[in-house]
Amino acid sequence: VPRVTTKTLQEMKSADIPIAMLTAYDFTSARLLDQAGVDVLLVGDSASNVMAGNETTLPMTLDHMIYHAQCVVNAIERALVVVDLPFGTYQGNSREALVSAIRVMKEAGAHGVKLEGGHVIADTIERIVTAGIPVMGHLGLTPQSIYNFGSYKVRAQEEEEAEQLLADAKRLEEAGCFALVLEKIPAGLATKVTESIDIPVIGIGAGSGTDGQVLVMHDALGLTTDFNPRFVRRYARLDEEIKGAVGRYIEDVRSRDFPSEDESY
Ligand code: KIV
Ligand code: NA
Repeated sequence: VPRVTTKTLQEMKSADIPIAMLTAYDFTSARLLDQAGVDVLLVGDSASNVMAGNETTLPMTLDHMIYHAQCVVNAIERALVVVDLPFGTYQGNSREALVSAIRVMKEAGAHGVKLEGGHVIADTIERIVTAGIPVMGHLGLTPQSIYNFGSYKVRAQEEEEAEQLLADAKRLEEAGCFALVLEKIPAGLATKVTESIDIPVIGIGAGSGTDGQVLVMHDALGLTTDFNPRFVRRYARLDEEIKGAVGRYIEDVRSRDFPSEDESY
């Protein structure tokens, strides 16, 4: 199978073929998602929430991200693997950011990195791109800034923030980003951004007018059910599947039905 590259995504935008992206943090799940045909696997710092049980993404370290990225890279044959640079590993200065991005590429074998933020980090993105590392931007609700926002509510509903977001999107394209994630903003604004720039725009809680969609795998498969924003569509209820299966296992152990003679040596 031909691998998905940043060029493939650009061609998909041109051909108006929507891009399907999901998060992945471990080998076994990543292999299933890759085999199912997902175009992009994002090793998101949302691993902090869904893998580690933290309240925010801020505790994630570069070593954590590299570990998860290695697990995912080991699994894939087709998908493009993009890895979040975690909080505190790129905001200080562009040299520090480049060192972080290089570690992710070299130690995990990732295909690109994602950074949160607009014009403030544009120079940093330019420097990373200059080193030959593909960069995905991320605007709107950027969870690493949650203590600045104060809540996880929809961003850019006011004219001023919407205009800044559009300007930031153009600046990120100019800086050399190969794609852009828009998180939790009005659908109309996301459509406008998508039409205003030439790089693929991938939305989460950003309506249907973008060039693609991304969801956290655990939300989409119904492994996590205490997180219920309207933008999550559940394609399975793996929580019920798993609890049911484990319940049957416990019963079988208790009743000595398991293991049978066939399952014994
Ligand atoms: O970490 C993450 O899962 C993300 C996506 C929601 C875009 O950044
Ligand atoms: Na993230």
